[in-house]
Amino acid sequence: MGDSPLKLGILASGSGSNFEAIAEAIENQQLNAQIQVVIYNNPDAKVVLRAQKFGVPAVLLNHRNYSREELDAEIVKTFRESNVDWVIMAGWMRIVTPVLLDAFPEKVINIHPSLLPSFPGIRAIEQALKAGVKITGCTVHIAHLEVDSGPILMQAAVPILAGDTAETLHARIQVQEHKIVVGAIALLAARSAK
Ligand code: GAR
Repeated sequence: MGDSPLKLGILASGSGSNFEAIAEAIENQQLNAQIQVVIYNNPDAKVVLRAQKFGVPAVLLNHRNYSREELDAEIVKTFRESNVDWVIMAGWMRIVTPVLLDAFPEKVINIHPSLLPSFPGIRAIEQALKAGVKITGCTVHIAHLEVDSGPILMQAAVPILAGDTAETLHARIQVQEHKIVVGAIALLAARSAK
């Protein structure tokens, strides 16, 4: 296999700023990878516009039409058809099942806006603010079945400042997410080139 690019499939539910960070890093030759396809689940997700900008095919799989397992089966089918090897959940707001995880064993990657194992699950940023911690951050990890669990690839710390709201804190966390998601994929590319 040598140094052939990692073939990525992206799952995104919203704005897609992490998708764009990955696409830009590939364009700038910082990352030896290519994005085969992006799957989104909300018809109005802004990630579609970003995918168009980078010429990446985008496929809508609306979760409202499927059970959790059926959705994951459609995801697997789409990724297989696009020759995806690695799955990146870049703001994927769905709980995944063994249907997806077993199809890509140890190759599904998640981005989470806290320093796991603190504050797993939804509203991680609000959880950190409520707990009164002074430092939070973000984590990129290999996804296991329990929500937001699995081996950690990279983390970044973000201090909580006086007067922070969920929005101001999220904006600073996202700056770090964009760095560590690229760093974590570079790590995987280096590992698979060995
Ligand atoms: C990111 O901040 C990511 O950490 C979070 O969704 C955001 C997506 O942003 N993910 C989760 O909360 C997953 N549990 P983006 O659409 O701009 O990349």
